[in-house]
Amino acid sequence: MITYKFPENFKWGSATSAHQVEGDNHNDWSDWESSKPRVESLKLKGLDPQDFISGKACDSYNRYQEDFEIARKLNQNVHRFSIEWSRIEPEEGRFNEKEMQHYMDIVKALRDRGIEPMITLWHFTNPIWFAKKQGFLNIDSSKYFTRYIKYVVDNLKDQVGLWITFNEALTIYSGFTKLSATWPSRDRGIINFLKIRRNIVRAHLLAYKEIKKIYSNSPASSATKSLESQEVPEVGSPNLVSHNVMVGIAENNVYVPDAKGFLRRQCRRLYRQLRNLYFFKKNIPYYDFIGLNYYHMSRKPDFGKQYETIPEQDVSEEMDWELYPEGIYHVLKDLKKFKKPIFITENGIADGIDLMRPKFIRDHLYWVWRAIQDGVDVRGYLYWSLLDNFEWHLGYGPRFGLVEIDYNTLERLIRPSAWEYKKICETNSLEI
Ligand code: FCB
Repeated sequence: MITYKFPENFKWGSATSAHQVEGDNHNDWSDWESSKPRVESLKLKGLDPQDFISGKACDSYNRYQEDFEIARKLNQNVHRFSIEWSRIEPEEGRFNEKEMQHYMDIVKALRDRGIEPMITLWHFTNPIWFAKKQGFLNIDSSKYFTRYIKYVVDNLKDQVGLWITFNEALTIYSGFTKLSATWPSRDRGIINFLKIRRNIVRAHLLAYKEIKKIYSNSPASSATKSLESQEVPEVGSPNLVSHNVMVGIAENNVYVPDAKGFLRRQCRRLYRQLRNLYFFKKNIPYYDFIGLNYYHMSRKPDFGKQYETIPEQDVSEEMDWELYPEGIYHVLKDLKKFKKPIFITENGIADGIDLMRPKFIRDHLYWVWRAIQDGVDVRGYLYWSLLDNFEWHLGYGPRFGLVEIDYNTLERLIRPSAWEYKKICETNSLEI
């Protein structure tokens, strides 16, 4: 058995998002789930539309204490969750203090358990009023978004030091809404795809600057100092965090293997650049850390089997993803050139019977460890997800959780793989 030690202060945890776990949300997604065309199309495929309606989800809105107690028991010291914009600003310009207090209570519940909160401000869902204005296609969307995040950050600035503006907005959301229309979409088309991406980047930049401003104006803060000196701030201290805030963005990166032949190889490389690195390359001054969501490899553009350099790998059946743990190493090495700290903000497998998950986690962590040995500044690993949850257009089928949810009773059942992951979190090391 070999022990692979992780750096001191490495963060271990798991992630969720509001719409997938909270229950009873009213936003553009919940509207779409029960819309006539959506329900009809599921019925045509012989599927039960009820399995594709988020509804109560895991009821984490009410059961978050229980969930965080499990995270604590599992020795996790960071937890990523998202704030639901439609709860905070249900009507344009009117903020709901009670819902804000709810998220403040959530942060407290984490901190009380010694778990550092990492907050995502936008994870795929929009308030209805904002969606009616065409969402991020609206030319003023960055202003609406910044007004919302200002309200949230003002309220949480003393307790939260890790902020993520957008989750997979450029790599997944834009394509799924404006190109393939797999997700709630209006106004499809390539022009709108490019437009929405441009507006989201704009919204990120504005939000980034706004958050930095809030912290530099707050009395206990030395954020301005660290900005001026271009130092990379250390990750959060347990309590007052205003002096070391970090603002990042989470993007999905796939591993794109080389294909045989010069031209094919160049095509794959170009795809990799555009797909994975575009945002990070263009906006270097405007993110303090990279949130990496890595799940699988992608053989795009497809040239046929005979041109592949890597043989077929295991596929996770619940998602039909080709798994390639070594891919996380290459993706991390690609991101190294931006010289920013990296958190693995998502990595996980849908595996209801929990047979593949232990090895999945170990193999990926081994390659994360290798990347760290090669000088990549990885600060933490957050498994997706703490709980089984609502997997967007795929409904309740895929089960990503370290914890199983019985959707009838909402009972939580800790899976064996979670206990294995606990050992890694506890010892800050991996044994293989
Ligand atoms: C990612 C999403 C996350 C979850 C996982 C499985 O793309 O960010 O919400 O659905 O996939």
